[in-house]
Amino acid sequence: MSTQIPEQETETETETDVEQDPKGRRPPAARGRAGMDQRAEDELSDAEETVDLKVFRYDPEVEGKKEPRFDTFEVPFTKGMTVLDALIFARDHFDSSLTFRHSCRQAICGSDALFINGSQRLGCKTQMADLEWPVRVEPLPHAEVVKDLVVDMEHFYDQMESVEPYFQTDDLPSGELEEQRQDRANREEIKMSTRCIWCGACMSSCNVAAGDNEYLGPAAINKAYRFAMDEREGEDMTEHRLNIIEQEHGVWRCQTQFSCTEVCPKDIPLTEHIQELKREAVKSNLKFW
Ligand code: SF4
Ligand code: FES
Repeated sequence: MSTQIPEQETETETETDVEQDPKGRRPPAARGRAGMDQRAEDELSDAEETVDLKVFRYDPEVEGKKEPRFDTFEVPFTKGMTVLDALIFARDHFDSSLTFRHSCRQAICGSDALFINGSQRLGCKTQMADLEWPVRVEPLPHAEVVKDLVVDMEHFYDQMESVEPYFQTDDLPSGELEEQRQDRANREEIKMSTRCIWCGACMSSCNVAAGDNEYLGPAAINKAYRFAMDEREGEDMTEHRLNIIEQEHGVWRCQTQFSCTEVCPKDIPLTEHIQELKREAVKSNLKFW
């Protein structure tokens, strides 16, 4: 299924929902209160403030969750709390079947890109205090939903793979211990492009990618930029890379809408990099007779 927001949303789980759940994995939670453990109960009653999380739910393998809906979880708000913290609280205390990816919790691994209050963001980098409440959390749009907040990233990885995202030089240094040096200015030029954490937020935000499944997408093009602009790769490899990004579904599809640049959690100037590669492609195709 796609990540289109269902027109009708259900705010609460009812007793009937729970009875229909064949695996009995969900507690009889109404707005994430009933069925919670003692620690959660204590934290909620001690909390000066609580916040409602409206979370997208879908599981094609569980009766009663095949129809997409929203569940609301009330969680205690604490200073510095991120959306990921709130989701973890909801999962650990209200519904252990609530499914989402996360790992590093510090904007490094790229696994928790989500659609939060209508925008692609990392759950671990987004402060609850900076959002309008209730906070609405959905899976990334324009990708198949596997379960709850988890989407299938295969297509995104395929596009990344297609630009050969690894260093290839046609001019290795001759001495065994000799370093292949890079000029400081050249390092500065590619510095931002190396920050990509493969989260997929940019691809999800891109209207062109949504309409053209073969479009390389901003992250893959940025990866191509990272190597094409690296002076250590040599002219032949640069030409090879420009040929890849010049393809029918490559850089020329970009309509400079800047949505990718706006959502990138690592502040990579993606649109600028795509434009730069367009210029490089034009220059490489100029012929002087
Ligand atoms: S370019 Fe930015 S938004 Fe896109 S995958 Fe990399 S880090 Fe995520
Ligand atoms: S958990 Fe690793 S980027 Fe958020």
